[in-house]
Amino acid sequence: MSFFRDISSPARSRHAIPPSGSRPAPACTLVIFGAHGDLTKRLLIPALYNLAGNGLLDPDFRILGIDRAAGGAAAWRDGLSATMQDFTRDRNAEFHAPSIDAKVWSWIADRLDYQQADFSDLEQVRALAAHLPGSAVFYLAVPSRFFGPLVETLGRAGLLREQDGHFRRVVIEKPFGSDLATAQALNRQILSVLDERQIYRIDHFLGKETVQNILAMRFGNLIFEPLWQNDHVDHVQITAAETIGVEQRGAFYEPTGALRDMVPNHLFQLFAMVAMEPPSSLSAETVRTAKEQLFESVRPIDPQDAVRGQYRAGTVDGRPVAAYRDSPGVAPDSVTETYAALKLYVDNWRWSGVPFYLRTGKSLGGRRTEIVVQFKKPPVAIFRGTETASLPPNRMILNIQPAQGLTIEMAAKRPGPAMDLAGVQVRFRYEDAFDLQPNVGYETLLYDCLAGDATLFQRADNIDAAWAAVDPVLQAWGASAQGLEFYDAGSAGPAGADALLARDGRAWYPLDGA
Ligand code: BG6
Repeated sequence: MSFFRDISSPARSRHAIPPSGSRPAPACTLVIFGAHGDLTKRLLIPALYNLAGNGLLDPDFRILGIDRAAGGAAAWRDGLSATMQDFTRDRNAEFHAPSIDAKVWSWIADRLDYQQADFSDLEQVRALAAHLPGSAVFYLAVPSRFFGPLVETLGRAGLLREQDGHFRRVVIEKPFGSDLATAQALNRQILSVLDERQIYRIDHFLGKETVQNILAMRFGNLIFEPLWQNDHVDHVQITAAETIGVEQRGAFYEPTGALRDMVPNHLFQLFAMVAMEPPSSLSAETVRTAKEQLFESVRPIDPQDAVRGQYRAGTVDGRPVAAYRDSPGVAPDSVTETYAALKLYVDNWRWSGVPFYLRTGKSLGGRRTEIVVQFKKPPVAIFRGTETASLPPNRMILNIQPAQGLTIEMAAKRPGPAMDLAGVQVRFRYEDAFDLQPNVGYETLLYDCLAGDATLFQRADNIDAAWAAVDPVLQAWGASAQGLEFYDAGSAGPAGADALLARDGRAWYPLDGA
């Protein structure tokens, strides 16, 4: 049953793109390195289109695409116009709208410019200065090996210098390093030419409404927070289960694996939202410091508490799926994990003794990203001797995707003469309460970066602390196959992941639950 409605305003709120009532972000040039790349087409341009449609970009906003490919602004613009039209016919695209608003699109198209440049060439990068008279945000939509060198080149070319009241910022995508040492090295490299407040390290999970909503749930209500601690919480499960496999990304995925790809970044962001102490405000430094304190309290993970698996052939959603080892770009004897599960403890007063179980995997039997907070049983069994053998546990499930909202599982009396309890669900679903607009999840992140709000971006110490927490597992796994389990594509993952919880007398929340 869904019974939550937006009761805060008489008309249902328009929602999903930055806060209603927001003003256009200050004028600047958004310089996109990797203008012809996938990220630009699939996510950045649609997000800018959505921002423009909501009046959140300044009339003097400009977009300068940089890439190695020859061609001018007209060709880039035409290609992007065609891609936007393609999205109207592709229901599976991240951006899908029934039609493209011609007025909004021409607003964007009029502001698109393009420069062919080899961004490893100092002189070619220096030449960009002529196109950048005022404030600029450099978006590095390029493979991660270019992050450090490109930032250095921008610095040497003088493009990162802030003067006459103009800002210069750099947005860096993931993966930010591949372990603690490389992340620290990259941070050192970029901090040699940039000030921390100029750096926006993106984790796209923080662009998801439902992830930001965790803070609203926890700190905008009084009814949950008093329960949010070890007296009441039995354990927490954080799941990011995917039905897609590695598809064409084998070359990227082989040296990466599920742990690096998802855990110190996306899952740790979910973990931070659910477990950090209440910040005193939503200012960037306060929120990032609260996260830092949490990450620093994570006890180094015992490799015995980590499980890894790799999918073999199977069936997902009724279609046959080849084994990971048979995917393009993957070694036939690959030991890369496509599934990782681990248990971690937080050594602070709030969470002492409460295990957090994290799991993520590809080609699984269900697609769901969610956090399950499972509460302890009531202290007194007054229903003993009734037909209720054991009470169903109370759970609060923060549904991130594809279901978006919140589910509470609780006990209720079954109608009838006997005192018989049943487990029931109370549900809030975003689409029932709000009028959702199509959005790709990058709108808020881009807007915040243009507006200079780094709350949803990672600080250097956040990145380092998250890598430090998983580092013992990465070290233990290394390149060896020891302990690597296999699971059928379309299943719930390797048996070892079930055993990890069974050892503690617990079980994973089913991938087809809530
Ligand atoms: C990316 C990972 O960062 O996140 C992918 O590299 C993963 O492997 C993706 O599929 C998941 O993001 P989302 O938003 O689809 O849940």
